Amino acid sequence: MSKKESPIKTIIVAVVLSLVCSVVVSFAAIQLKPQQELNKELDRKRNILIAAGLLEQGGTQAEVEELFKQVETHVVDLSEGEIVEAPKDFNQRKFAKDPDTNKVLTGKEDIAGIKKRSQLANVYFVKDGDKLDTVILPVHGYGLWSTMYGFLALEPDTTTVVGFKYYEQGETAGLGGEIENPSWRALWPDKKVLNEQGEPIIKLVKGSAQNEHQVDGLSGATLTSNGVENTLHYWLGEDGFGPFLAKVRAGEI
Ligand SMILES: Cc1cc2nc3c(=O)[nH]c(=O)nc-3n(C[C@H](O)[C@H](O)[C@H](O)COP(=O)(O)O)c2cc1C
Repeated sequence: MSKKESPIKTIIVAVVLSLVCSVVVSFAAIQLKPQQELNKELDRKRNILIAAGLLEQGGTQAEVEELFKQVETHVVDLSEGEIVEAPKDFNQRKFAKDPDTNKVLTGKEDIAGIKKRSQLANVYFVKDGDKLDTVILPVHGYGLWSTMYGFLALEPDTTTVVGFKYYEQGETAGLGGEIENPSWRALWPDKKVLNEQGEPIIKLVKGSAQNEHQVDGLSGATLTSNGVENTLHYWLGEDGFGPFLAKVRAGEI
């Protein structure tokens, strides 16, 4: 070993190098955070627009922002079904975690496997003048491996589907992950999710759907399909948006 190559020197170089790298990585993470938040927000808007049938796919930031001007964002108190003033910086996922703002679900209530939900939820309206044209609901529930997040857009009868778009899930690509496939998504428009009494009735079936209350399940992914059905039954039911949807149907909202 030459005089210059002492183990101490090697250790010093390694320590300095890791310090420099960690500073660079932390700095990049802090710098990029606002941009990541903006991208997340843009993605949320894009998916709402796709569910509502106002955008096919993609769209530049300017296009999404322009189209989203048609969308009104509101906050609903789920137990009352009333629109309330949005708390400052309302974030439904954060509210679902906070004991002051969440509701812990009983085993019987928790058909979607979410354990807790926020007492308040976002809803989105697209209007034609003063008339409600589309109501868009955020929904989430457990599949086989993951919580799956989507937007369900309904006509003002709150029964007829305009579109259904999943945007975040961790199911297996090619199996449960097919819930994000545009061809499966195309099966949803015009399906009827509620019965005459306003109760959730939509079913995901093995094979081909036979009527307007059924949608083809994903082949080889019955467990994810069950998760989708349970998610919709929870969020369209009494403990989800049920009371709010009843008010929309009655023309009170
Ligand atoms: C590696 C692996 C990944 C799987 N991923 C999923 C999945 O994401 N969603 C799902 O429902 N089933 C998944 N399955 C299959 C389920 O275990 C189960 O067989 C299937 O849901 C039954 O659906 P079928 O009755 O339509 O065949 C996976 C199986 C394996 C081996």
